[in-house]
Amino acid sequence: MLNIALPKGRLGDRAYRLFAACGFPCAAMEQEDRRLVLTADNGQVQYLLVKPSDVPIYVEHGAADAGVVGRDVLLEGGNDVYELLDLGFGACRMCVAAPLNFREDLSAPLRVATKYPAIAKRFYAGKGREIEVIKLNGSIELAPILGLSDVIVDIVETGSTLKQNHLEVIETVLSISARFIANRAAAKFKPGELQPLIAALQAAKGEII
Ligand code: PRP
Repeated sequence: MLNIALPKGRLGDRAYRLFAACGFPCAAMEQEDRRLVLTADNGQVQYLLVKPSDVPIYVEHGAADAGVVGRDVLLEGGNDVYELLDLGFGACRMCVAAPLNFREDLSAPLRVATKYPAIAKRFYAGKGREIEVIKLNGSIELAPILGLSDVIVDIVETGSTLKQNHLEVIETVLSISARFIANRAAAKFKPGELQPLIAALQAAKGEII
């Protein structure tokens, strides 16, 4: 049996639909309950429902053989896992955004509010720009409005959150989508289970929106 960590929420719902289309439906998943471990109807897969940012942690430590995670979480966590497949859905961008008509003061460190300090630090280190990171856990768009930061590094999907808060994208940091990842030992010792699954995911991924 393969243990697969799915992120709770919209990305996980899509990921589950993809696994169901690949032959691993799970009647229990359709029920609204609080169970966190659910076995597929054919008994070949066990789904573990975890907080999105915890998916690579479960996979790195082998508590899950594989998982589905956004590229943002994967790059931020830096966990030692195999990235096997771009699943295509959950597409969005990580961007730098600022108040409309923002002028950068190059004589001072740039104050950057973000949920993604590692990604932000790497991005600005690559440009040789000194920054001060302000780590927040949500509603990032508030930070520049209140003067807590100059800019934000955050996810942009439709752009409506930025627009409604009078912010605009000034740079794109990276493109994001859901990734299928695996534990290193599982990839080595469970190829009989993982390889057919990867092939099925590859074939079915275009059907999930
Ligand atoms: C994410 C992100 C943006 C918003 C972008 O927030 O942090 O705030 O979605 O989406 P949009 O471009 O379609 O408007 P999320 O909803 O995850 O909540 P959060 O503010 O708690 O991070």
